[in-house]
Amino acid sequence: MKMNAGIESLAFYTPGFSLGLEELARHRRQDPRKFVEGLGQHRMSVPPPDEDVVTMAANAAVRALDGVDTASLDSIIFATESGIDQSKAAAIYVHQLIGLPTTCKAFEIKQACCGSTAALQMAQALVTLRPDRRVLIVASDVARYGLGTPGEPTQGAGAMAILVSATPKLLSFDPESGSYTEDVMDFWRPNYMDEALVDGKYSIKIYLKALSESWKGYHADSGRAFADFTRFCYHLPFTRMAEKAHRHLARITGQGDLTEADLETHLRPSLRYNQVTGNSYTASLYVGLTSLLETDPADLSGQRIGLFSYGSGCMASYFSGVVLKDYRNQLRIDEHRRMLDDRIELTVPEYERFYEHRLPVTGEDYATTVHTRGRFRLAGIHDHKRIYEQVTATAVPVTPEAALSSV
Ligand code: COA
Repeated sequence: MKMNAGIESLAFYTPGFSLGLEELARHRRQDPRKFVEGLGQHRMSVPPPDEDVVTMAANAAVRALDGVDTASLDSIIFATESGIDQSKAAAIYVHQLIGLPTTCKAFEIKQACCGSTAALQMAQALVTLRPDRRVLIVASDVARYGLGTPGEPTQGAGAMAILVSATPKLLSFDPESGSYTEDVMDFWRPNYMDEALVDGKYSIKIYLKALSESWKGYHADSGRAFADFTRFCYHLPFTRMAEKAHRHLARITGQGDLTEADLETHLRPSLRYNQVTGNSYTASLYVGLTSLLETDPADLSGQRIGLFSYGSGCMASYFSGVVLKDYRNQLRIDEHRRMLDDRIELTVPEYERFYEHRLPVTGEDYATTVHTRGRFRLAGIHDHKRIYEQVTATAVPVTPEAALSSV
């Protein structure tokens, strides 16, 4: 039987520092239950001053390419909405940092949190035409609102690397999909701002409308119904959003009200990683997929998963895939859990110092202090150029105190 293109390998990375949302709530004089139960978030990852979307993506990419012949890579596509340059693609820095061959193309793609899904659809088309080639997608973002704003507890950071090929080992994509595009201002970041502007309540409404419309298109294209899926993954600006979305999908498809047990089975394993990393925009749907494959106690082989990708502004897609037989052998469960568990827990003042750190915008040279606990870091700026480097053993702070001492 011919297999559709799909995911051969998945890896995610999140910075080695985090903040507990109960602690943030206390500092902001909010009820912690609002953040934990109301938004569904427990912790958020916090990038230190020497990490950015490039270093996070490089950390995820080296893992996803472990054991892969990089001569087969057609391209590396970088999806982000926290871009670092108006012209040069962040993909080229990653290409150099992880030593990809010069024959591998590198470019960037953007449409808010949905850019990664557009990249995925391009990659599937490409490897279907050229089954001897692979495409690496890196989706990397820092979700940043303002200190003390309603968006603050939904911040986070992380990167996904998704290797797409004609010989997938984790998930094979169905060719059908349904999409929806509308010009709306629910979330955007003008060039002169470091933080995103968001009309959060409006964004939730548009997200649900885009879900209805994308589902309609998917259903017309595929003929599949709600009951054809055993698991569902959603874009996760905060994890309670997935519960709202899933109940909405159940209602519009005539399932009525879902029970707690339905939500537990259909959805909850896909929320576990995002609950402790926070939003990672382009990466977040795929962090959810990784969480599902790695934390769901059931054997998902042969199961069809529904995926909903939403990017503010807005563009959305509903699509699906089938989990492959030996998927469990391809997962990085221990590596991912260790990365999450080993993060240094920040206090609110320490988080605020990281948050307030800014690279100069006036063109002078600048050197960052070593904070990262990953393999790649932003060393600074020289002559208007961002300088990245591999972390050497001696440069890495070995204790949490050393990592934090010079913020
Ligand atoms: N205990 C339990 N739950 C509580 C609570 C408490 N003490 N206080 C409030 N809540 C619940 C609310 O009922 C609400 O849940 P509901 O929507 O199911 O009713 C939830 O917590 C959030 O409360 P709300 O008052 O709506 O929060 P807010 O006005 O501070 O903002 C967002 C919430 C999500 C709008 C805001 O965090 C935001 O804009 N985030 C960014 C979202 C984003 O990135 N969107 C763009 C991409 S999709």
